[in-house]
Amino acid sequence: MQNQENAADKYKDTVPSKKPTMSQGGQPAFFSCWDIHAYYGESYIVQGVSFDVREGEIVALLGRNGAGKTSTLRAIARLDDPALKTGEIWLDHKPLHDMQAWQASRAGIGLVPEDRRIIQGLTVEENLKLAQIAPPIGWSIERVYDLFPRLGERRNQEGTTLSGGEQQMLAISRTLARDVKLLLLDEPYEGLAPVIVQEIERTLEQIKKLGMTTIIVEQNAIAALHLADRAIILDMGQVVFDGKSQDVLDDAELRQQYLAI
Ligand SMILES: Nc1ncnc2c1ncn2[C@@H]1O[C@H](COP(=O)(O)OP(=O)(O)OP(=O)(O)O)[C@@H](O)[C@H]1O
Ligand SMILES: [Mg+2]
Repeated sequence: MQNQENAADKYKDTVPSKKPTMSQGGQPAFFSCWDIHAYYGESYIVQGVSFDVREGEIVALLGRNGAGKTSTLRAIARLDDPALKTGEIWLDHKPLHDMQAWQASRAGIGLVPEDRRIIQGLTVEENLKLAQIAPPIGWSIERVYDLFPRLGERRNQEGTTLSGGEQQMLAISRTLARDVKLLLLDEPYEGLAPVIVQEIERTLEQIKKLGMTTIIVEQNAIAALHLADRAIILDMGQVVFDGKSQDVLDDAELRQQYLAI
């Protein structure tokens, strides 16, 4: 048990204890959150989370059920719940901590929530067009169809009648159709068959090659670790590991303790 309790001890220097001015790569961070604390009413959930992301990097944000992953993404996207009480969040030199959700979205935050939120009664194409109703506009609809040919084939089909995997593709596309600087994916593989997961993984690889900066939250940690360059592990609302994905894959004890895999 003693060993188990200390599975992350050897990594504790990877978690910054003072506000960094440079990212781990020695460049000013493209995205950073510093000591963010967020609450649902009285419930104190995000307890001093700090990390940064370099431009073009994919970071996996991992942790057990209830560790605070979704809450952290929601705090970054500046949704009302959980409420951000203190801390700083910066994206491309803009202070998100001073913004509301719509402003953060305009500043380039693109959250793809777990439930996908495809709009009922609208076709695939209408869902995409709706995303482009206000600037800043990102990818063209034709470019989206190049990335996801299946959506192109189904452009006139009602979005909610798509398969789970196709709905996930639509949810991601709708975000890319806006001008996104940081893509936040909350459990994109959830509820999908392994073959569909592989298909979406390949697309995320393509998106990565295009240089899209991404934070991916996934229960399927192994899949996320293969996609991501870096991993951050949360436990009880705090960062317990920040390092290479490969180090998590190589450390069975760390995975067992914090990811239960
Ligand atoms: N709306 C809410 N009101 C109060 N507490 C909440 C709310 N949403 C989440 N919580 C609590 O916050 C904690 C973190 O939840 P969160 O959803 O961020 O975890 P998670 O890491 O995303 O978990 P999962 O892997 O199950 O999605 C949990 O204890 C959860 O019960
Ligand atoms: Mg969650």
